[in-house]
Amino acid sequence: MSTVNTMRVISQDTLGGPEVLKEIEVERPAPRSNQVLVRVRAAGLNPTDWKHRATGGFLGEPPFVLGWDVSGVVEAVGIGVATFKPGDEVFGMLPYPWGHGSHAEYVIAPVRALTHKPASIDHVQAGALPLVSLTAWQALVENAELRPGQRVLIHAAAGGVGHVAVQIAKARGAYVIGTASAGKHDFLRELGADEVIDYRETDFTEAVKDVDVVLDTLGGDTSVDSLRVLRPGGIVVSILPVGSDEFDTEAERLGVRAVRMLVDADRAGMRAIADLVEKGELRPTIAGTFPLADAAKAHALGDTGRTTGKLVLVTD
Ligand SMILES: NC(=O)c1ccc[n+]([C@@H]2O[C@H](COP(=O)([O-])OP(=O)(O)OC[C@H]3O[C@@H](n4cnc5c(N)ncnc54)[C@H](OP(=O)(O)O)[C@@H]3O)[C@@H](O)[C@H]2O)c1
Repeated sequence: MSTVNTMRVISQDTLGGPEVLKEIEVERPAPRSNQVLVRVRAAGLNPTDWKHRATGGFLGEPPFVLGWDVSGVVEAVGIGVATFKPGDEVFGMLPYPWGHGSHAEYVIAPVRALTHKPASIDHVQAGALPLVSLTAWQALVENAELRPGQRVLIHAAAGGVGHVAVQIAKARGAYVIGTASAGKHDFLRELGADEVIDYRETDFTEAVKDVDVVLDTLGGDTSVDSLRVLRPGGIVVSILPVGSDEFDTEAERLGVRAVRMLVDADRAGMRAIADLVEKGELRPTIAGTFPLADAAKAHALGDTGRTTGKLVLVTD
């Protein structure tokens, strides 16, 4: 049990499987100027958590505390913070990749990463949303400028990013085509997908054409193949940012656009997401919740790459 000056965090000393994760107690930080200390109530897990756990990724060698999603209650504010006060319920994504650390009882967040949590969702739902929703918003709305009536193809539409991307695209009046294994097709239709493709049985390049926007959540061959289903002038936004040169050369040859992006912490984006939640147009599906101490179990499930919606850690 943590004391008034300490907090429990999920840390690791070595890279590896879920078993390297351990709960430890560390000093509780104090917010500096333009920062708040958030008492974490729930924190989503994302593939970037398992990738960093196993490879170090952007962060290099451990020890480190993972976690970019946060929903919780402001515990203390630093000098100059006018937007929030202790007791406010907030949610957001910590700056990616350097601002990690929400898989903990408390976390420091820059004020600009957070916004007020909509009252219509609980902390588990709010903690599930930030990283995946900002990713989908920045891909579809900011990069692709998705407009009503446009045709959008969303790969891995039942996953964390995909299932919110379907809802954001529908909210913008797009015609949505999603890929998933057959058992997840009813789920996609309930989210609003207009067409579903079983990627295990069907080659999407033969089943779809005249697409305006593709959200590529898979990378590899899918990035280049996706260019071939676009209308002239269409765009593939890939969120697997390291791709082959062929992605660019083939896009140029076909007269379409190829974009790679990394999600970026942003209050304006979080506000747009909160607005969609308040209008009833966006809800996360929760694949499972785990107490902080069981982070390794959540990682093991995430490692499968087969979850529907989001895994979330909850603190007591
Ligand atoms: N660049 C960025 O800033 C950024 C941001 C967020 C995420 N990402 C990356 O984007 C990827 C997706 O993230 P996520 O959170 O959505 O992952 P996720 O929740 O783990 O995705 C799981 C889903 O992927 C589906 N899937 C797996 N292989 C598929 C395939 N070949 N075709 C269609 N669906 C497939 C699975 O459905 P089935 O069981 O039906 O196969 C499952 O529902 C990850 O690699 C992540 O690291 C990048």
